[in-house]
Amino acid sequence: MKKFRTVIEPFIIKSVDPIKMTSEKERVNALEKARYNLFKIPAHMILIDLLTDSGTGAMSSEQWAGIMRGDESYAGSASFERLEKTAQELFGFKNIIPTHQGRAAERILFSTICKEGDIIPNNTHFDTTRANVESQGALAIDLVIPEGLDPSNTHPFKGNMDIIKLEELIKNKGKENIPICLLTITNNSGGGQPVSMENIRSVRKVLDLHGIPLYLDACRFAENAYFIKLREPKYKDTDVKDIVLEMMSYAEGCTISAKKDGLVNIGGLLCTNNDSLAKKEKDLLILTEGYPTYGGLAGRDLDAMSVGMKEVMDEDYLQYRLAQAKYLGEHLMSIGYDTIQPPGGHAIYIDAKSTLDHIPPLEFPGHALAIELYKTGGIRSCEIGTVMFGKIDKVTGKEIPAKMELLRLALPRRTHTQSHIDYVLEVAKDVLDRKKNIKGLRIIDQPKTLRHFTASFQLL
Ligand code: F0G
Repeated sequence: MKKFRTVIEPFIIKSVDPIKMTSEKERVNALEKARYNLFKIPAHMILIDLLTDSGTGAMSSEQWAGIMRGDESYAGSASFERLEKTAQELFGFKNIIPTHQGRAAERILFSTICKEGDIIPNNTHFDTTRANVESQGALAIDLVIPEGLDPSNTHPFKGNMDIIKLEELIKNKGKENIPICLLTITNNSGGGQPVSMENIRSVRKVLDLHGIPLYLDACRFAENAYFIKLREPKYKDTDVKDIVLEMMSYAEGCTISAKKDGLVNIGGLLCTNNDSLAKKEKDLLILTEGYPTYGGLAGRDLDAMSVGMKEVMDEDYLQYRLAQAKYLGEHLMSIGYDTIQPPGGHAIYIDAKSTLDHIPPLEFPGHALAIELYKTGGIRSCEIGTVMFGKIDKVTGKEIPAKMELLRLALPRRTHTQSHIDYVLEVAKDVLDRKKNIKGLRIIDQPKTLRHFTASFQLL
């Protein structure tokens, strides 16, 4: 077929959710009521919700048909058999353990393999992964390549792990204190950046010298695989399905939040080739999640997941998915925003520190931009900066800002059309034209941990 430049949504819309057009006055009222915390704005007051790509996508007709097929037997359901067969075929792991979402798989994995004082290396730990490592008394260490920390660097695989740093860590800390090494594909906290096959292979080579198993945090396995196809010349003619299987073949197991590339609203997986570990994990699963053939989910959820994991491998879908993120990222740049380069798979990250350089980090430039985008156009996004990661210095009692002040615009899967994205860009341009008038905020009330979810703010 002749190649055209326009990448279209490779689906039609059969069922829709209305969104409410609100006035700026209504949004200002909602902001005041929510004490300037976007997590506290009711969803019906949001026009375009880019808070997260997790569990917010649209399911296909086949997935809804899977929901009807769901077998709700407590033990041995046919839904589990279908999910187990799909996951074994797609990922190549022997033991497939369903969980209600990604962090449940993480908790079970780290409770089983970690002891106090252990060290877990990763390119960059996602916050729930880090919290689950630390809750075992272990240390989560990030070893992403230096390019991965430089927002404007256009390295094609900014999620890669620094192999030399990994070797040094193993040498200095001792392999007996490193039960596993993780790689997060794609690297969410680093801007949704991919990890190359070559890097996965090199990490595995280093680990093999010391007998340390590799695990993948594989929430966005299909997006990572498609980046490999596009950017690693050797894979340009390889099917995404085969790339996924090869990525997984270097690992002993993985955790997956199916709320991302599983294309479902709830669900997760813990997979491993280690039979004795799987037995321990299933015992723990029974204690908190449920019997190993449903793991805290309904049978119907398992069917939706097994259909979703197959559908996400469709290369027309992946081409559209990455094109949508690229379009948003490139156009934000062209209207004057600084963003993490190159555009990631599931989200665009605005560098709020340089975009709003008149607002100091302790007045939360990322959050100020998020508030202005909501006020101006009903768009919800998520600050990943000092509100989320600021720390109080124990000696001086003063707040230490985060390393970066980012604003994430995450794209739910198969949910927004091209005109929604164009609308986001128009609002973003309007906000930027008035950027000198945007004011910072101060916190007037906050909990001890994870303050971004519930803190209250005041405009300065
Ligand atoms: N690992 C990564 C890389 C993630 O991005 C997430 C979730 C998890 C693990 C945990 O999965 O939410 O199913 O328990 N990320 C979401 C986000 C919340 O908005 O980026 P979960």
